[in-house]
Amino acid sequence: MKIKDVLLNGIKILKDNDIEDSNMKAKIILADLLGKNKEYLISHDEEEIEDGLNRIFQEKIERLKNYEPLQYIINKQEFMGFEFYVDENVLIPQPDTENLVEEVILLSDKSRKNLKEELRILDLCTGSGAIAISISKLIKKCLVYASDISKEALNIAEENSTRNAANVLFFESDLFEKISSLYKFDIIVSNPPYIEKNMIETLSEEVKKEPILALDGGEDGLDFYRRIAKDAKKYLNVNGYLAFEIGYNQKLAVKQILKENGYKNIYSRKDLGGNDRIVVGQI
Ligand SMILES: C[S@@+](CC[C@H](N)C(=O)[O-])C[C@H]1O[C@@H](n2cnc3c(N)ncnc32)[C@H](O)[C@@H]1O
Repeated sequence: MKIKDVLLNGIKILKDNDIEDSNMKAKIILADLLGKNKEYLISHDEEEIEDGLNRIFQEKIERLKNYEPLQYIINKQEFMGFEFYVDENVLIPQPDTENLVEEVILLSDKSRKNLKEELRILDLCTGSGAIAISISKLIKKCLVYASDISKEALNIAEENSTRNAANVLFFESDLFEKISSLYKFDIIVSNPPYIEKNMIETLSEEVKKEPILALDGGEDGLDFYRRIAKDAKKYLNVNGYLAFEIGYNQKLAVKQILKENGYKNIYSRKDLGGNDRIVVGQI
């Protein structure tokens, strides 16, 4: 079959099933399968595709039809200019989370007393490793540690670290449980699970394909902020920073949690859409 016919078939199946951006998604999948870019599909639309490849394309279209996120099907997502392998064991790194990495870059400049000093940064709940790996690539002279409770996620994070030639030390741990309190950090950053338990059923079918472990923040969505704010104090150097990504409606509650735990200079930052998505405190 010709490229143009394979594509048209795929797009039709997706459109008939009300899958958003069907045209773009079908092209991305076929281009990825052929190891080419989307422009190639247009300039070579008369080219014949082997039956085997066509079958694999159809299987991937079926997965999209079943609301599997495109990123899990092509096994990649771009974040901070780096490419990350992703599958159903990790949350797909979100463009909004780039704001948190940018904030940590600013905090690292504030933290460093002199240019020779090596900073220690911990990323809790690292998932695919997107935050930790980007920090390790973008901040000079820093030692980056990262942890997650999920062994499957950590395997992926380690693979992403190797692929991106980053330097991150990974721990399998329930938050701080396996991290010795002899370790001290200048910055602890986290994008923890923060969805209210009873809201999970209302999420889109695609988001519901992401690991529940990455989404469920307990009854009011704030469990992880409470646990991390309480324990991070023992692991932060004097004047060290704790930086969180938060849900759009969690600013006041998370600021209050930091205040109750003795943090100072607490502030929040908005994303480009005007939503409060980051809260930072200093100990
Ligand atoms: C919202 S995802 C964030 C992933 C990644 N940091 C990002 O921003 O794309 C939350 C992560 O927390 C991990 N997690 C859940 N419970 C945990 C726990 N008790 N201790 C450590 N990590 C946990 C999940 O496995 C998941 O990878």
